[in-house]
Amino acid sequence: MRRSPCLRPLSAALITVLLTAVTQIATPPPARALENGLARTPPMGFNNWNTTHCTSTFNEAMIKSIADIFVSRGLKDVGYQYVNIDDCWALPQRDSQGNLVPDPARFPNGIKGLADYVHSKGLKFGIYTSAGTKTCNTAGFPGALGHEYSDARLFASWGVDYLKYDNCNNQGVDAVQRYTTMRDALKATGRPIVYSICEWGRSDPKVWTWGEDVGNLWRTTGDISDNWTSMIGKAQANRGLAQYAGPGHWNDPDMLEVGNGGMTATEYRTHFSLWAIMSAPLLIGADLRKVNDDTFTILKNTDVIAVDQDPLGRQGTVISSSNGLVVYSKVLANGDRAVALSNETTATATIGTTASAIGLGGSPQYTLKDLWTKSIRTTTGAISASVPPHGTVLYRVSRAGTSNRYEAERGTISQGVVESNHSGFSGTGFVNYANVTGSAVEWTVNAAQAGPATLVFDYANGTTTNRPMDVTVNGVLAADELSFPGSGAWSLWRTSVVTVNLNAGANLVRAAATTANGGPNLDYLDVSVATAPPPATVYQAENATISQGVVESNHTGYTGTGFVNYDNVIGSYVQFTVNAAATGPATVTLRYANGTTTNRPMDITVNGTLAADELGFAGTSTWDNWQTATLTVNLTAGANTIRATATTVNGGPNLDQISIG
Ligand code: GLA
Repeated sequence: MRRSPCLRPLSAALITVLLTAVTQIATPPPARALENGLARTPPMGFNNWNTTHCTSTFNEAMIKSIADIFVSRGLKDVGYQYVNIDDCWALPQRDSQGNLVPDPARFPNGIKGLADYVHSKGLKFGIYTSAGTKTCNTAGFPGALGHEYSDARLFASWGVDYLKYDNCNNQGVDAVQRYTTMRDALKATGRPIVYSICEWGRSDPKVWTWGEDVGNLWRTTGDISDNWTSMIGKAQANRGLAQYAGPGHWNDPDMLEVGNGGMTATEYRTHFSLWAIMSAPLLIGADLRKVNDDTFTILKNTDVIAVDQDPLGRQGTVISSSNGLVVYSKVLANGDRAVALSNETTATATIGTTASAIGLGGSPQYTLKDLWTKSIRTTTGAISASVPPHGTVLYRVSRAGTSNRYEAERGTISQGVVESNHSGFSGTGFVNYANVTGSAVEWTVNAAQAGPATLVFDYANGTTTNRPMDVTVNGVLAADELSFPGSGAWSLWRTSVVTVNLNAGANLVRAAATTANGGPNLDYLDVSVATAPPPATVYQAENATISQGVVESNHTGYTGTGFVNYDNVIGSYVQFTVNAAATGPATVTLRYANGTTTNRPMDITVNGTLAADELGFAGTSTWDNWQTATLTVNLTAGANTIRATATTVNGGPNLDQISIG
């Protein structure tokens, strides 16, 4: 179906023409684009509000201590940078020149003195005021409405690097106007100042629809409190807004409560995990002089921070949500995915998704790293975990094998144009295929060896109409009209995946639009050549240590030279010594036959510790019919003993071998 031209992604030139036309008939819109180059990843730092509110604890000594702790406890090293103060720092009245005056009881050395101290630690300093006549606190501190330029100049003269601009006492003045005036006032100071819009997502049009042009981040919700219901409510409100976030402009579901004591460690890990997968600002809101080590462990989890700070800057999206069991996925710059399995209910639940559901299909094997326990395991596609009440399991999922990225803007482009007017792209831009049948991008793709390879096309399609493309490899059709369905917005990126055969060496891969709509906006092609999973290592039972059993060979189908008949003795066992290259989980497969109709359970111990209590070995019809039983165990690097012990007077089954993979 032919799409109306007005739905196509507009070129910069066309936008200019349209804006010129509009400005001839209407009042000029506010100057577009913040363009201050700041907050390329979500800001990280501290703000006192969640722990102090306006109590007297909020003072110079506290803020200085926070800066000290940022350095001494390694928070600065993992990326926390901004030390920000909130409401109640000023006196209720401006001075005779109309300047704001720091409260001398709280800040005896003024704000400049405090900012200098924070800077001396290699950190940055942030301040707060409101886009109203007064700030939010009932004591009524002066706001910046009508004083934007002079207050911004004062802040800049103090060395302020970050402004949180609140929404109280706004006198009903239009929000876009109020926040844009401060944007321009900050710009006029000439000092780089991160601009945090604190409008709470209250007025229409919603701040996320105009925030990118005005601020670096914007609150999407009302104030967070230190309890589960409040925190998860903020996540729920914020998680559908991914299309508005990107480098320099972030959704802000409010500051962290981690460490303030109102939630369990499990709930705080969920809080931190969800903020990370939603690319939210990470502003610590706890008094770091008082928190326990668990709090530092959460706040300093560099794997989780890396999810938040990933340079691609795409906010994660919800893949599925059912009765409080929610799966989020976030595309990372290297093609990995962060996946959060989040249990909002009060009962333990198994939550699962698949590699293909998160856009990573096509590979025979994936690695899952649990970013909290640090355990690593492999999967052929299932991504699943038992998640405790209010808990979140956070994985980093990678394709096994090597992957190479080919940016669309670096390919050979036929009838398309390189653009960068929608955020979240990798490299320097993406290709707009224009609205032309046959427009194409072609790459020379190198393969180390001939064989199957997974092609992952990263694209955006802001329409609701599929934009199929033919994929050819070396001139031969490899995928006929591969689907590129609507992705929800031009700034929401998705993948289409296909497996093709490549020759060893250079291959020409081409993706060509097959309809008059053209292709989608194409960001990159990831090509991964799967490496086969390492072969399982086999250990024959007849070569193991045998207690109260005998080696026999009187039934067919065994491997090696025979099998172990456990005899009909409780406690008879076979013990294997196996080698593991690394510490971590391993899959143990036991090959057995049981010619009876009665289960012959065995206890499996690893290095003397019970790994499976009465693992079942059900009847296999005949003694010649061999089947497998599988379990996952934890091995330590080097030698390990695995013992299978019969727990009933029938003894165990006939055991042929075990394999470790
Ligand atoms: C508002 C903001 C909060 C905090 C207080 C201070 O409620 O949303 O984050 O800054 O004001 O009074």
